[in-house]
Amino acid sequence: MMSGSASQIVVFIALLIYSTGSSGSSLGDGKPKIRCKEAERQALLRIKDDLYNSTVGTFPSSWGNEEEKRECCEWSGISCDNKSGHVVKLDLSNGNAGGLFIGNMSSSLVELQYLSYLDLSGSSSVDGSFIPHFIGRLGKLRYLNLSYTSLSGEIPPQLGNLSRLQYLDLGHNYQLEIKSLESISRLSSLRLLDLSSANMSNAHDWVHVVNNLPHLTNLKLRGCGLPDTVPPSLSLVNSSTFLAVVDLSGNPLSASVFLWLFNYSRSLVDLDLSSSLSNTSIPEAFGNLAALESLNLAFNELGGPIPKSFGNMTALVNLDLSGNQLEGSIPQGFGNMTFLQYLDLGNNMLSGEIPKSIWQICSLQHFRAYNNSLSGQLQFTESATRCAHFPLEILDLEKNRIVGSLPNFTLYPLLKELWLNSNQLNGNVSKSLGQLSKLEILQIPDNSLNSEDASWVLLSQNGS
Ligand SMILES: *[C@@H]1O[C@H](CO)[C@@H](O)[C@H](O)[C@H]1NC(C)=O
Ligand SMILES: *[C@@H]1O[C@H](CO)[C@@H](O)[C@H](O)[C@H]1NC(C)=O
Ligand SMILES: *[C@@H]1O[C@H](CO)[C@@H](O)[C@H](O)[C@H]1NC(C)=O
Ligand SMILES: *[C@@H]1O[C@H](CO)[C@@H](O)[C@H](O)[C@H]1NC(C)=O
Ligand SMILES: *[C@@H]1O[C@H](CO)[C@@H](O)[C@H](O)[C@H]1NC(C)=O
Ligand SMILES: *[C@@H]1O[C@H](CO)[C@@H](O)[C@H](O)[C@H]1NC(C)=O
Ligand SMILES: *[C@@H]1O[C@H](CO)[C@@H](O)[C@H](O)[C@H]1NC(C)=O
Ligand SMILES: *[C@@H]1O[C@H](CO)[C@@H](O)[C@H](O)[C@H]1NC(C)=O
Ligand SMILES: *[C@@H]1O[C@H](CO)[C@@H](O)[C@H](O)[C@H]1NC(C)=O
Ligand SMILES: *[C@@H]1O[C@H](CO)[C@@H](O)[C@H](O)[C@H]1NC(C)=O
Ligand SMILES: *[C@@H]1O[C@H](CO)[C@@H](O)[C@H](O)[C@H]1NC(C)=O
Ligand SMILES: *[C@@H]1O[C@H](CO)[C@@H](O)[C@H](O)[C@H]1NC(C)=O
Repeated sequence: MMSGSASQIVVFIALLIYSTGSSGSSLGDGKPKIRCKEAERQALLRIKDDLYNSTVGTFPSSWGNEEEKRECCEWSGISCDNKSGHVVKLDLSNGNAGGLFIGNMSSSLVELQYLSYLDLSGSSSVDGSFIPHFIGRLGKLRYLNLSYTSLSGEIPPQLGNLSRLQYLDLGHNYQLEIKSLESISRLSSLRLLDLSSANMSNAHDWVHVVNNLPHLTNLKLRGCGLPDTVPPSLSLVNSSTFLAVVDLSGNPLSASVFLWLFNYSRSLVDLDLSSSLSNTSIPEAFGNLAALESLNLAFNELGGPIPKSFGNMTALVNLDLSGNQLEGSIPQGFGNMTFLQYLDLGNNMLSGEIPKSIWQICSLQHFRAYNNSLSGQLQFTESATRCAHFPLEILDLEKNRIVGSLPNFTLYPLLKELWLNSNQLNGNVSKSLGQLSKLEILQIPDNSLNSEDASWVLLSQNGS
């Protein structure tokens, strides 16, 4: 993907080469060598006419039929093969061009027979365009991004002809209806598949197809209404997939999805199952997901304890268990997560003391455990000083049963937000708070604190 600034740099360099070429008679025969094939240029202009609604957006001015615009390889959003001159990349994504769909995609696309990268994402104004059948004739495509284009209808079987396709993003087309992944099952080079927001409530073959795409690493099926089919056992299929990034959030799934996912325990790096499970508990086997760096189980109805095995997920950077009904205490093993940066345990029913080991995680930036029943004292132990420094910025323990006096916060000089309101803290407001120069929010009301210095109380009340 080319970012806005990167494409500007490309255009800038292109202009530079063009102007040197056309003005500098000392170079060669004085004429820049045109790489663009005229037939492809005419196809591109037809594609523009078919896609672009001038009343809604602006199109890159580098495109045109004028003599000085003959080098289509230098038009914004276009890349050509630097040997053959054929157009290999067309990026009219919203960031790159204000180009907007008028109805269906242009059939002139098939005239770009060497196209390997097509991005029309975000360029939609008309609801209800279809994925055209001729898409199957773009046989060299390796990247196809039609996300956010208001596509509707079904995936045509011809899409399955794109055997070289590695990246397929059809996400965020809310009217897309996918009854089967049969055509996608033939995309054997696929690495990334994003069908988020499509209606897949009848696509009972989704697990089977995913299991059999040999190169798939990245699967995003957010909010697809996925049927909770009992996943077929992987031992029955010949799978060599290495799923690493899986986002199934916002689907009505059940605990059987865990069993299926544990087949990928060695490869999973990023798993999002938020808002997708009800009335189940977190299996102990999660601890086998040793490569996991990000786990989101927020907003489910997960009950029971946090498994002790979590202490074996030592690669975690991001852990969100908020918005569940988890009980019991936070496992001691959390201190094993030495790379942890973001931890959210808020809105659960956790009790017991916060393990001291958590305060010894040298990378922790945000720690939230608001609205639980955590008790005990806050004690930042001396051994915590084994870290060079603590990057903790947000500590949110609002609405718990923390007792005792405020600890010395000097260990956490980067604290920006400190939420300790609605606990059972007592004693004096510690002067160490005065050394927290980054503090923006201090919330300590609804405790039994004496204010040594009234300005702290003011600060905490302003912060609300
Ligand atoms: C053509 O592009 C390839 C890959 O982008 C690059 O390695 C190569 O040096 C280029 N050749 C010329 C002649 O610019
Ligand atoms: C272009 O967009 C405008 C505004 O949305 C719309 O009224 C018009 O019908 C569009 N033109 C075509 C040819 O679709
Ligand atoms: C888009 O294509 C479909 C199917 O080919 C066709 O029925 C529909 O009329 C086309 N829409 C427009 C605006 O051309
Ligand atoms: C597709 O385009 C969208 C919007 O431009 C972008 O957010 C997304 O990352 C792209 N998908 C892929 C697979 O590159
Ligand atoms: C493309 O796919 C269709 C439907 O699956 C099939 O009938 C056709 O033969 C394929 N074309 C090519 C060129 O493979
Ligand atoms: C999804 O498609 C099914 C079957 O066509 C339909 O019954 C259901 O209402 C659709 N769901 C949504 C959210 O549109
Ligand atoms: C399983 O996959 C391997 C490697 O891709 C392949 O060699 C083998 O033929 C496949 N077996 C079956 C039964 O499909
Ligand atoms: C693989 O998934 C199936 C369900 O799809 C499950 O029965 C089996 O236990 C899983 N195997 C492993 C090793 O996780
Ligand atoms: C939750 O699951 C348990 C055991 O699996 C079952 O007995 C109970 O009826 C379920 N409750 C609801 C509300 O589905
Ligand atoms: C962590 O993994 C080790 C080695 O696989 C295992 O022996 C141990 O029981 C696991 N700990 C927990 C709490 O599951
Ligand atoms: C911490 O990790 C080690 C291996 O890295 C493991 O043996 C141990 O069981 C873990 N501790 C807990 C409490 O999970
Ligand atoms: C807090 O701890 C630091 C370093 O250990 C120490 O210098 C400072 O005096 C303490 N502050 C209070 C108010 O106890």
